[in-house]
Amino acid sequence: MAPIVSVTRRLPAEVEARLAAGYDLRLTAEDRPSDADSLVEALTTADAVLCTVTDRIDAAVLGEAARRGMRARMLANFGVGVNHIDLAAARGHGLAVSNTPGVLTDDTADVAMALILMAARRLGEGERFLRAGMWKGWKPSQLLGISLSGLTVGVVGFGRIGQALARRAHHGFGMRVRYLNPSAKDAEAAAVGAERCATLEELMATSDVVSLHCPATEGTRHLIDAAALAHARPGSILVNTARGDVVDAEAVAAALREGRLAAAGLDVFEREPEVPASLLALENVVLLPHLGSATTRTRRAMGDKAADNLDAFFTNRPLPDRVA
Ligand code: DGY
Repeated sequence: MAPIVSVTRRLPAEVEARLAAGYDLRLTAEDRPSDADSLVEALTTADAVLCTVTDRIDAAVLGEAARRGMRARMLANFGVGVNHIDLAAARGHGLAVSNTPGVLTDDTADVAMALILMAARRLGEGERFLRAGMWKGWKPSQLLGISLSGLTVGVVGFGRIGQALARRAHHGFGMRVRYLNPSAKDAEAAAVGAERCATLEELMATSDVVSLHCPATEGTRHLIDAAALAHARPGSILVNTARGDVVDAEAVAAALREGRLAAAGLDVFEREPEVPASLLALENVVLLPHLGSATTRTRRAMGDKAADNLDAFFTNRPLPDRVA
């Protein structure tokens, strides 16, 4: 009998067809974030759960599923970030966990670069101004932004996506690059002439644009808080395509109001889809609905990767992208 795979969100049609060919597929009737009860239901009735960033699979959910009789042996996450899954608890309950690294690197770096451009050149503000019928024609002093070439971008987290953003900023836009990473990445850094910063404070103080690409962990929660922002270059730009938890949104809003930050670009939020009112009230922040990996090609590749990991698991091969 084919293993039962419960899929929490609707996936590209080709991916669903591929999964349906190999598994007893349980698709969601309503394509919306799962609550704890439906996750427990999936974990107790399926052999594997294909989940996404909108499913909070924490110790309480896993514990309740175990109490009711855990059936699942694997979580195949559709996405690279796995901060919504308690990996230690999953491991403790004997679940293997995989993610989808690599395939979304370029698209996410593109969105980070787009946010840098939008924030620096006030593009969102300009579009709102035009659509509101306020544009009375070109004038020399209208919506003046910040020129990027020659400025320094500080990359926090110099993994795949951070490096891809650094290449775009350096080779495409003539920016200098500095980076902060717990493990040295000197070979990758040399390709974009990047200088390593020893501390976050040093990176904030020496960067005109700070772009966040680190994973969300206990150690990076509210990494960018009021204390970190106090070191920011006056008039600098902050961009976040990593996870909302990495920034203290109220501290960012205060820095934007005070002008310590000239602008910000945020694709991710701590309690998605909730966006703090303090940010919505500001003109100098670009707000996107978590679009980093949102292209047709990449969403299909993410689905294929999740399916590759399921196939490996159910044929007793090592998981290509095991995270627990
Ligand atoms: C990722 O892959 O982590 C994206 O943010 C979607 O979860």
